[in-house]
Amino acid sequence: CGIVGYIGKRDSQQILIDGLKKLEYRGYDSAGIAVFTHNGLEVRKSKGRLAVLEEKLIGDALHGSVGIGHTRWATHGKPSDENSHPHTDNTHKFSVVHNGIIENYLDLKDELVAKGHHFLSETDTEVISHLVADEYDGDIVQAVQRAVKRMRGAFALGVLTEFEPDRLVAVRYASPLVIGIGEGENFIGSDIPAILEHTRNVYILDDGEMAILTNHSVELRTINGEIISKEIFHVDWDLVTAEKAGFDHFMLKEIYEQPKAYRDTMMGRISADGRSVELKEIGMTPEQIRSIRNIQIVACGTAYHAGMVGKTIIESLARIPVEIDVASEYRYRSPIITPETLVIVVSQSGETADTLAALREAKRCGARVLAITNVVGSSVSREANDVIITQAGPEIAVASTKAYTSQLIAFMLYGLFLADTLATREKDWIADVLASMQKLPDQVEMILERAQVLKQVAESLAKHNNLFFIGRGVDFAVAQEGSLKLKEISYIHSEAYPAGELKHGTLALIEEGIPVVALITQEDLYEKTLSNIKEVKARGAHVLGLVNEGSEVEVDELFAIPCTLPLLSPALSVVPLQLLAYYASLARGNDVDKPRNLAKSVTVE
Ligand code: G6P
Repeated sequence: CGIVGYIGKRDSQQILIDGLKKLEYRGYDSAGIAVFTHNGLEVRKSKGRLAVLEEKLIGDALHGSVGIGHTRWATHGKPSDENSHPHTDNTHKFSVVHNGIIENYLDLKDELVAKGHHFLSETDTEVISHLVADEYDGDIVQAVQRAVKRMRGAFALGVLTEFEPDRLVAVRYASPLVIGIGEGENFIGSDIPAILEHTRNVYILDDGEMAILTNHSVELRTINGEIISKEIFHVDWDLVTAEKAGFDHFMLKEIYEQPKAYRDTMMGRISADGRSVELKEIGMTPEQIRSIRNIQIVACGTAYHAGMVGKTIIESLARIPVEIDVASEYRYRSPIITPETLVIVVSQSGETADTLAALREAKRCGARVLAITNVVGSSVSREANDVIITQAGPEIAVASTKAYTSQLIAFMLYGLFLADTLATREKDWIADVLASMQKLPDQVEMILERAQVLKQVAESLAKHNNLFFIGRGVDFAVAQEGSLKLKEISYIHSEAYPAGELKHGTLALIEEGIPVVALITQEDLYEKTLSNIKEVKARGAHVLGLVNEGSEVEVDELFAIPCTLPLLSPALSVVPLQLLAYYASLARGNDVDKPRNLAKSVTVE
């Protein structure tokens, strides 16, 4: 989502709309603005692209010099006029725009409903506007501080109240927010592009900080109320660089957003005691879950590769047999579907034609369908019986990265949820896995810190025209994704092979100097994979080994990933492979974000 806010002397409507236009790349299923007019705090919002809102404002413009705006990427509640931001309370005296997720919004909502508040939307954000109104006793800053203390999750907020029309309050907690400093006017933005046209002097808020803006001042505080001071950051990026948050490409930005995507996908789905998974979005009763006899996972491209890991996760955790199909093949092989079959479709966009057709076929044959998708309100999410939204945020680069890894997290959460319901795993064991999962974001950061090593490896890989990825078990599934990533954007031919299968054919292709990327993260398969590495090395291959920290393997180059549980290692080991593909593409001078012949979302069968 994107946030913009203005307080000054100029008419705010156009400033807000222009700011939102610069943020449309962040989310675009609905948009809205709230402005203080001579009638008080007025809101205009609508589902659809920003152009729809602009249309609405023709002849119904909002005039006033203080306002907030929002462009939405749905996380809770489908795209609709009601679910669009800004949200207000019942008195229409308070208005809020929000990015992020409020984990405990249902509890807060129940409490507010009991106090007489009426809600109009399904969003977590609307809870904030009611909560602030409820806490208000004459000082908006204190009301926001009290409200924020009751909220769990991630948020960047812009808050206005009609009672104090000369103040705009902004808060950051685990969701980015910047304050733009002007002359006689000040701004807020979730991202720099939103305000770059007006100022290059910004404060970048850190977690737990807030700003109180007037025309002439910006006061910075912690959410506990202590006054703080910060250095002004001078932005020297152009608009295009600013959209990518300073990264050279969206793909690189999205690779670096993975720690956040992991946290957001887990957020609100792990119980407070850390011992179980809470998937409130799953409507299946324990009875229905116990009646599942088989599972079929159906997806395309990268989502299919996430499904391959998902199959291992579910079979291992829940002991239910899982088949996996590429969506374009599924319908044509007459799959055996019964009312006791659960079909899981995986799709970043939720619009892939083959996946959608498979979903419809599964439903027609009586299966229950669970969708794992990144887009609330997408066709797949609307047609499936149950939906788990991966909270990766919008993915723009054609080559999928953070959507894939968020799908892995979603599969883990679902696998643990099944294991708990079916009692196939002990509670203590589940708690241990959840604890390890919560370490993953920091472990990804540790890999990202060593990106330069991979850049060098990629530059020498880029000189070759063929290479191989090998691995066993989930390492093979990740090898497939690594190979696809490389093919998609570097145009280097590569093949992923189950390491043990090499000797049955592919070994014939191994010759002096050919690069082989070998994944060896699975302890129980370690010795066997090692033998396979020796097979290729004996034939002259140049081997890059991806190993767990502390493992000694004789290869030409070694890249260690932090230690985690075997089932979680794909969420780490894929990251270096994404970076290898990225840097190889760069070395070859390709258009990284828009590779030839490929589309982000394929809506033809
Ligand atoms: C296209 C994209 C791939 C993606 C696949 C499935 O081919 O280029 O990156 O994995 O579609 O997309 P979906 O949105 O269904 O996950």
